[in-house]
Amino acid sequence: MDKLKIRGGRSLKGEVLISGAKNAALPEMCAALLTAEPVHLHNVPRLHDVATMRKLLANMGVQTETHGERGGMSFVAPDSLTPEAPYELVKTMRASVLALGPLLARFGRAKVSLPGGCAIGSRPVDQHIKGLQAMGAVITVENGYMHASLPAGWTRLKGARITTDMVTVTGTENFLMAAALADGETVLENAAMEPEIPDLAEMLIKMGAKITGHGTSRIVIQGVERLHGCTHDVVADRIEAGTFLCAVAATGGEALLHHARADHLGAVIDKLKDAGVTVESVAGGLKVSSNGKLKAQSFRTTEYPGFPTDMQAQFMALNLVGEGGSVVTETIFENRFMHVNEMRRLGAQISTDGRVASIEGGKRLTGAAVMATDLRASASLVIAGLVAEGETLVDRIYHLDRGYDRMEEKLRGLGADIERVSE
Ligand code: UD1
Repeated sequence: MDKLKIRGGRSLKGEVLISGAKNAALPEMCAALLTAEPVHLHNVPRLHDVATMRKLLANMGVQTETHGERGGMSFVAPDSLTPEAPYELVKTMRASVLALGPLLARFGRAKVSLPGGCAIGSRPVDQHIKGLQAMGAVITVENGYMHASLPAGWTRLKGARITTDMVTVTGTENFLMAAALADGETVLENAAMEPEIPDLAEMLIKMGAKITGHGTSRIVIQGVERLHGCTHDVVADRIEAGTFLCAVAATGGEALLHHARADHLGAVIDKLKDAGVTVESVAGGLKVSSNGKLKAQSFRTTEYPGFPTDMQAQFMALNLVGEGGSVVTETIFENRFMHVNEMRRLGAQISTDGRVASIEGGKRLTGAAVMATDLRASASLVIAGLVAEGETLVDRIYHLDRGYDRMEEKLRGLGADIERVSE
């Protein structure tokens, strides 16, 4: 199993290219299921979840191909494919549930494994099911699978008004894709506003979908009978960018993040500025600099445009360096503090009470062996390792590889002393 060996204490300096967003690429790959014509994506990040999604689509009978330097990937989903997502693949990646909406919309049936538990919380898919049922789908759960079909005599889903009990990102994406090919109008109330949603909507519009309101909490979709192929650039990964912002800031460095977008990182940048970090928009990216003297910041995770849960662990690593106490509240997932115990092994002083973590910043951190527990937790341990004295060994970095495009190479490019070691 691969580990990352980090010798902390160096300031990160230089330039880094931010990849396409994992959380946009995954639904956009599934959108290729909506047409038999070729769909070309550019700027697809090279990471494990993308490889899993490609395998999932290929397993159904979708032809996939990679091309070019710029993360090019093409898909052709023929009329004759098998609309199934097996447990073996779904269990490794929850986002596989994104196949459900498009399969049902185009083929009128789908068999998709239930994702099961997840380290950061129970993460049910009840809202996905309820929303598609509102559009007429008949969905039963048997033997761990969702079996979805259309009522007898129907050829398409029917537009509906869907109000979810909570804001759900992949739920909104499933409804968008299903509604694009449904009969009539669908209105999504309480829709997620994360930048990956308008990026998917823009792609669907290029395919011929009729969508308005994307990027707001009310999206209106007029279903069409057919969608076409398209070419689309995956939006830059705001979470990868935010992770590098925190890493550079924590080490007291200075860097240019190509393709990073300030407009997608408002809540994170506001907190960084309050912490004493300089973040500026420049042509084609973001410039960040810090003298390493930071003030810890309290924050609460909420849906976009609030502070992203996917940045909670990385900003907590920054708070370890910052002077003063801070309180971090996680409102999205019930068990997303697993990095805390590992950070303690580095000398961090953190106490937790349910969804609230209290951090005593400015304490000396010293390198240790730590274990990655989930994707973003892994990134936070890397940041903590970059500032800790001596050597930190981060184990189980397959979590990191799920969602970061060659992170250690990019960090080395910024001057970090970090290497991958295989056992
Ligand atoms: C997406 C992101 C993930 C991010 C999360 C929250 C992708 C591929 N993943 O995950 O990186 O951390 O948004 O920003 O885009 N819920 C239910 N029932 C449902 C659906 C959701 O109870 O049917 C709950 C979840 O357990 C969670 C909350 O709603 O507590 C938000 O989850 P959701 O937005 O759906 O997360 P994902 O789309 O899975």
